[in-house]
Amino acid sequence: MKSLINKKVLLIICGGIAAYKSLELIRLLKKNGATIKTILTKSGSKFVTPLSITSLSQSKVYQDLFSLEDEAEMDHISLSRWSDLILIAPATANTISKLANGISDDLASTVALASNKKIFIAPAMNVRMWEHKSTKDNIKKLKSYNYELIGPEIGDMACGEYGEGKMSEPVSILKEIGNYFDILNSNNKYKAVVTAGPTHEYIDPVRYITNKSSGKQGYEIAKSLSNKGFETTLISGPTNLEIDDTVNLIRVETAEEMFKATQNNLPADVAIFSAAVGDYKAKHLSKFKVKKQDNFNLELEKNIDILNYVSNHNSLRPKLVIGFAAETNNLENYSIKKLNDKNCDWIIANDVSNKKIGFNSEFNEVSIYYKKGNKEKLSYKHKSEISDEIVEKIINHLN
Ligand code: CTP
Repeated sequence: MKSLINKKVLLIICGGIAAYKSLELIRLLKKNGATIKTILTKSGSKFVTPLSITSLSQSKVYQDLFSLEDEAEMDHISLSRWSDLILIAPATANTISKLANGISDDLASTVALASNKKIFIAPAMNVRMWEHKSTKDNIKKLKSYNYELIGPEIGDMACGEYGEGKMSEPVSILKEIGNYFDILNSNNKYKAVVTAGPTHEYIDPVRYITNKSSGKQGYEIAKSLSNKGFETTLISGPTNLEIDDTVNLIRVETAEEMFKATQNNLPADVAIFSAAVGDYKAKHLSKFKVKKQDNFNLELEKNIDILNYVSNHNSLRPKLVIGFAAETNNLENYSIKKLNDKNCDWIIANDVSNKKIGFNSEFNEVSIYYKKGNKEKLSYKHKSEISDEIVEKIINHLN
């Protein structure tokens, strides 16, 4: 498997009988060209020894959060920074629960919490533990934190029971990790620019006009693109959202600043305009705070339409230009009109009058209108899942 050559994998082995399979996993990862560092939890060390891990991985095993020797050589933050990917196999119910709740009381959980890398977990536990509501809730939480799940499988368990909870076989884990790097390798030639959030259009030094956009959908799209290997720039109006540093985040305030930042970051292969850019700005920006008056007439002038500018530009236009349409009524007509008027390849439309999916919601439901005249609906789901689906379609289109 070529995709694993020179990849740095930080393997975390927790305490479960499946830990013996992790030794085989180390052998396979090594054989396929990966470099491995291992963290062995206290309970993990009851099942496999540091000596067997070191012999197979040909590198040091880290065990203690407060080990002077380990910290001097590579502290817990550097361990996570070193890796291209973190793999927790086996992941016990206890570790899963700690990660889902931000507990960091040992080296493994501290590294995971301090990491901005992709984390894969291969759970292994008794079927009742796996089926317990608390484990299910924890897994759901971890997925929302962008953890990737491998398995578990159904089968006979070491405890004599039968059911779901067996750790996936090392070959299957290897295949999943290999696929992940394959996708990253094939997409890292692509550059993406995403605009998100509202803009602030100043009237005077202390007042501005804005809108209700939270930026959530745009941030999720940038996250999904980056997860799939795109070199991603997110140009964001004022929001209180954060994004990890695999995305190049440029914060702006006004439409004018967003326009300049967009120009400076093109050309790209795909541009997604999810920002709710203020359509107007004050014609005369007051240098000083405007004093209260009986009648106050504010003269506005149009802002430049960033999407329109880019999609009609000879040299800056990306291969794929995607606009958004946030509407309260006539969704279909207005979206198709925007698709044509703004020379987009796709328009992603959502109904912002619906409180369940509107501004600031964690969920969304959108329709994609294509230039070719067809339309596709992405049903009600978390904004991160909507983004993953959109990005899958982008990848298919670019390839
Ligand atoms: N857009 C942009 N620059 C602007 C205004 C809008 O890039 N100055 C982009 C948005 O990011 C979005 C699309 O254009 O992708 C649609 O924006 P919207 O505000 O919904 O459409 P408008 O053209 O402004 O039309 P209206 O406000 O009348 O619905």
